[in-house]
Amino acid sequence: MYVHVPFCASRCGYCDFNTYTAAELGGGASREEYAETVLAELALAARVLRDHRPPRVDTVFVGGGTPTLLPAADLARILEAIDRTWGLAADAEVTTEANPESVTPRSLAALRAAGYTRISLGMQSASPGVLAILDRRHSAGRAAAAAQEAREVGFEHVNLDLIYGTPGESAADFAASLDEAVAAGVDHVSAYSLIVEEGTRLAAQVRRGELAQPSDDVAADRYLAAEAALDAAGFSWYEVSNWARTLDARCRHNLLYWTGGDWWGLGPGAHSHVGGVRWWNVKHPTAYAQRLAVGASPGLAREVLTADEAYLEDVMLRLRLAAGLPLEVLDPAGRAGADRARAAGLLAAAAYGDGRAVLTLRGRLLADAVVRDLLG
Ligand SMILES: C[S@@+](CC[C@H](N)C(=O)[O-])C[C@H]1O[C@@H](n2cnc3c(N)ncnc32)[C@H](O)[C@@H]1O
Ligand code: SF4
Repeated sequence: MYVHVPFCASRCGYCDFNTYTAAELGGGASREEYAETVLAELALAARVLRDHRPPRVDTVFVGGGTPTLLPAADLARILEAIDRTWGLAADAEVTTEANPESVTPRSLAALRAAGYTRISLGMQSASPGVLAILDRRHSAGRAAAAAQEAREVGFEHVNLDLIYGTPGESAADFAASLDEAVAAGVDHVSAYSLIVEEGTRLAAQVRRGELAQPSDDVAADRYLAAEAALDAAGFSWYEVSNWARTLDARCRHNLLYWTGGDWWGLGPGAHSHVGGVRWWNVKHPTAYAQRLAVGASPGLAREVLTADEAYLEDVMLRLRLAAGLPLEVLDPAGRAGADRARAAGLLAAAAYGDGRAVLTLRGRLLADAVVRDLLG
């Protein structure tokens, strides 16, 4: 299960996620009523899936936005309703995303007691200057402190998100961010290259020449720094942007997305994939709430993936995993592309010999190009 929570206290200049501040949203889709609205979609999901084998829920991921802007009691209620509807597996992974400034030891303890097992905090950087450019509201150090608070109340699995390549960020700034994330004792780190998304404040600043366009070469250097620091601290990459300290620390929910699993996404704009059918909900929280209020589905559109589309997606997603892509999956053109990538040192020779396409470190820097070459 995915649950989207479309609220943020303020919008970061780089972010184009489906999320709204109170000022952006207006009436009709209040935070107070949100849990109730999500439960209405859950009831609909239960009806739709009634005739199928009742699925057991292995992973729940509450993302945003900033889910922890909702009271912990609301996040607990949503989880409890999912459990009541289908049953959570005994070892279910239950993640919520959180902004560092939106959690306290008390709210974290309440989430842990409600059954949340994993928390993913947006840290982005340890540098006050970089945080300011990114429009982050929390102080430097707050994310690492929140991660420690989460561990103290019993969260075994804690992730910190980092962003690298922000204009004005130095190599030393990013090295300090990596050090701080590692020192916080977390078992998972995600590191993303800053993407300038159309329509964001960041894109406007870049267009006006106020901020430099992030450079690919700098991003590549930062990626190598991330790999070196995290590897030295005992983390292993398992997806191009994700490192975990142990196999158990990998995010099972994201692995499910990357390996073609089934999930139902609750909430405005949420995507779902069940049995080869993919659909997505209306994007705006008000439209979403209004549909559910009259007993209608919030689904906007659906598609059944063609074999070609499914192939394309499978190659694109699984090639980014450390587990790699079985060569037998590839069609002749893909296989020829893989041979070229191996000859260029972008795919690991040993894994190739064992029948798997696994990116080398250089291949990870050029992952998109390798995918393009394989897909012709
Ligand atoms: C939903 S947010 C995480 C939780 C919380 N809202 C926060 O920001 O602290 C998901 C993550 O996506 C990443 N992200 C969002 N927009 C991005 C962009 N334009 N470029 C790179 N990373 C981005 C950030 O690292 C962010 O922490
Ligand atoms: S990065 Fe996180 S806090 Fe910032 S606007 Fe996006 S979802 Fe909200």
